[in-house]
Amino acid sequence: MQVVRTLEELRSIVRGWKREGLSVGFVPTMGALHAGHLSLVDLSTAQCDRTIASIFVNPTQFAPHEDLDSYPRQEQQDHDLLRGRGCDLVFCPEVSVMYPEGEETRVSVPQMGAKLEGPFRPHFFGGVATVVAKLFNQVEPDKAFFGEKDYQQVQVIKRMVIDLCFGIEIVPGPTARAGDGLALSSRNAYLSAVQRAIAPVLFASLHRCAIRMRNGTPPEIALAEAKAAISKAGFENVEYVDAVDPGTLDQITDTLPDYPCRLIAAAWLGKTRLIDNIAL
Ligand code: PAF
Repeated sequence: MQVVRTLEELRSIVRGWKREGLSVGFVPTMGALHAGHLSLVDLSTAQCDRTIASIFVNPTQFAPHEDLDSYPRQEQQDHDLLRGRGCDLVFCPEVSVMYPEGEETRVSVPQMGAKLEGPFRPHFFGGVATVVAKLFNQVEPDKAFFGEKDYQQVQVIKRMVIDLCFGIEIVPGPTARAGDGLALSSRNAYLSAVQRAIAPVLFASLHRCAIRMRNGTPPEIALAEAKAAISKAGFENVEYVDAVDPGTLDQITDTLPDYPCRLIAAAWLGKTRLIDNIAL
């Protein structure tokens, strides 16, 4: 696996592959890799001739009070994991490559980004859309793979790809979970042993809520029950538990549509913010 830090080297390798007629799959990450990231690498190696992963902790998607400085960084371990999964190239740019001196351009997906996470992390999707657009222009992949754990992120990126005419297919990968149901996340590393024992309640409550709704409980009631169960388990601040249209992310409050919608939640356990979602 080649470890590349400059744009010139990245472009020369990718253009060589393209000249040979090889397809390129791309898995953007912020490192601290877990089985969820590696399952995206597996999807890419199965569907594309060459696979590139990127590791870049993107400052513009963190608010000043968030965990940019403490975000877990383990580059050597990440390289070993990627190499073990057959990744062909890992791109690890410096901040100055992604945000050159004097930079000011931003990409925003204002309406899709304003839903769900929007009121709680108003800076977040602007930062994600900006860095992903830059990475897409740098890597020029045929397909890009994103985990469904960050469900709104996938919808924001799909919207951006359509709006900015990127010729890239966005492929969502299913959420990887621990045996007790907790969605894998690099931020799970922040949880204490007691918090880790409480954390699976987020998924369990969404699961129970889905069953209640399927059995005819009105969404408003089932969602309020889920919110109460998550609080009761020890989550301090349940920011949202919503049923949404899977494409538009618009809230569903009265009757369920006859197509699968999405149950989606965000809540704080101590200083750690957890998100999760399931198909209904
Ligand atoms: O999901 C992530 O890890 C990040 O938001 C992404 C897509 C790599 C952009 O920094």
